[in-house]
Amino acid sequence: MQNFVNLNDLSTSEITSLIATSLAYKTAEKIVPQTKQHVANLFFENSTRTASSFQMAESQLGWSQIIVNPQTSSTQKGETLSDTLKTLGAIGVDVVVLRHNINDWYVPLIAEQSPLMPKLVNAGDGNGQHPSQSLLDLITIYEQFGYFEGLKVRIVGDLSHSRVARSNAEILNRLGATVSFAGPTAWYPADFDQYGTYQSLDDDLNEIDVLMLLRVQHERLAMTENQTFAVADYHQQYGLTHERYNQLKDDAIIMHPAPVNRDVEIADDLVEADKSRIFTQMANGVYARMAILSALMEEQ
Ligand code: CP
Repeated sequence: MQNFVNLNDLSTSEITSLIATSLAYKTAEKIVPQTKQHVANLFFENSTRTASSFQMAESQLGWSQIIVNPQTSSTQKGETLSDTLKTLGAIGVDVVVLRHNINDWYVPLIAEQSPLMPKLVNAGDGNGQHPSQSLLDLITIYEQFGYFEGLKVRIVGDLSHSRVARSNAEILNRLGATVSFAGPTAWYPADFDQYGTYQSLDDDLNEIDVLMLLRVQHERLAMTENQTFAVADYHQQYGLTHERYNQLKDDAIIMHPAPVNRDVEIADDLVEADKSRIFTQMANGVYARMAILSALMEEQ
């Protein structure tokens, strides 16, 4: 793996291998490689989980870390992303973990084919892809069920602004899951029809294996949408209420990439309910990111 920018660019066997490596790190069956790397973390958008779990993964692997703060970096003086990354490459950084609000930010950088360009890890691009989140979600589902083929996965909520929804819809459909979507029609991207069906949240809720809720991304909504957004209405129509929770199968699981808007996407006291895997997802994020970074190093 030369870069890790879109999980859907990988073959199914590469994805299966990343899942196996992640779980082997989790169970301590895999020992961290002797070879160490230098990594820089560069987040142009806010993050708690992705940034800190990449840092934890890097620490667990014994890699050196540089945190570059975009607010105090020379990007503020107009330096391009390309020159920033080649600067990091020139000083010896092997891998850059980067989040940006521009969709596909990595495409022109990889196309440059500069020997100075470090390996790139996409920690989220606009509403495009969130491949490391998608991998940790796959691990969490696989841990529960042991397979993907035929699983009924419903992704609910702010689909149009969610890179998690797009990454997961594509990959879960490819791995044989039956994907469906629910949420406000205004937030349903028409091209999602190729990955699954758009239906009511309550349709066959008692047959769903994985209920994946999405955060309402207020920072990406137009001001008018935020002004008219009614929390109680949203929760009643598209949120996980106690009534809906009680309809789920015994072995169904609830997922959410977080941060969670409590009492919006999910009732406050259901965030840590028995069926919730929300904090398990976060824990799995460290192992997923260890697997991603190791795979990049093995490509040397
Ligand atoms: N799930 C996720 O990407 O969370 P952060 O924005 O906190 O990294």
